[in-house]
Amino acid sequence: EKGLYPHYMLKEIDEQPVVIRKVISKYQDGQGGILIDPQLRERMTMADRIYIIACGTSYHAGLVGKQLIEKIANIPVEAHIASEFLYNRSILSANPLFIFISQSGETADSRGVLVAIKQMGYPTVTITNVPGSTLSREADYTLLTYAGPEIAVASTKAYTAQIAVLALLAFDSIREKGMEQLYGINPFHELSIAANAMEIMINKKEMMEEVVWQYLTSSRNCFFIGRGVDYYIALEGALKLKEISYIQAEGFAGGELKHGTIALVEEGTPAIALITQSHIRANVRSNVQEIMARGANVCMITMEGSEERGDQIVLPAVHELLTPLVSVIPLQLISYYAAKYRGCDIDKPRNLAKSVTVE
Ligand code: F6R
Repeated sequence: EKGLYPHYMLKEIDEQPVVIRKVISKYQDGQGGILIDPQLRERMTMADRIYIIACGTSYHAGLVGKQLIEKIANIPVEAHIASEFLYNRSILSANPLFIFISQSGETADSRGVLVAIKQMGYPTVTITNVPGSTLSREADYTLLTYAGPEIAVASTKAYTAQIAVLALLAFDSIREKGMEQLYGINPFHELSIAANAMEIMINKKEMMEEVVWQYLTSSRNCFFIGRGVDYYIALEGALKLKEISYIQAEGFAGGELKHGTIALVEEGTPAIALITQSHIRANVRSNVQEIMARGANVCMITMEGSEERGDQIVLPAVHELLTPLVSVIPLQLISYYAAKYRGCDIDKPRNLAKSVTVE
């Protein structure tokens, strides 16, 4: 039930801090350890490469998952679009582990890959929001995201829950002695800090509505730029804006702009720049300068501690690996208000279905 909310999407955006806290409680054992099937842990540590397979927003969570698993657990990861992988399979490593990410657990493109991989006898895991769904039943292991029913077609809380579960899976399988000390962090503690930061951003709705007024009322297009994990968030921000507001949007790796796309920038072109990663923040700022010099109207999303005067949106600081949980919130809200301003059918955008059970 959406209760007092005008749309399910807004309700589901608001639920995200609670969902992350739910993930924390579901995956924490009595001793503060991570509750994941020890057999799956063994599969993770034995794998020489992990293949993440998904579509749409779940694929974008997979890209963030790649970053998390590689950085935390030191296992090589490839993330693939299911419909691409199905007919153009990568060369597989000797001991692969497959992770399928699907909110609905029913997506035909992802299932097609799962069926093929099972036939080859490789181990499979499904990260899903729906217990008993097809992808959950057919994989060897299931990790639930506990986001509750997601009604709006545009995925929000399922995406952040997927990222939280991927982070826990990564921490659970730290394989190299010393990595734990290296990070020296308690994943549950860091996730709960992230949940609080998400809540702070959710309470800044007027600010996001203001951003829409300032940047998106008259535009036909919008750029999202970032580098590293912020590039993955840029892709997700662009998808959200496209699907519910019908504004043509594209996510770009900041350093790639000058290799072609910058030709599109003209006076007043709106762009949203994400800068949450300290080691590349100077690079992104210089990419921003390049497009501003050509007339782009740039809204900067940065993080406490590395913000500069004039940055429009400053996120509360969280662990650098978990910034996606927080940086995506303003993008979801900006899409929501852009769609509302344009009078779009927010919960049921044209041409889209919640679960895509045909190839
Ligand atoms: C975007 C969106 C879609 C889905 C995609 C995969 O907001 O909802 O891109 O993410 O169709 O669906 P699932 O996760 O159910 O496999």
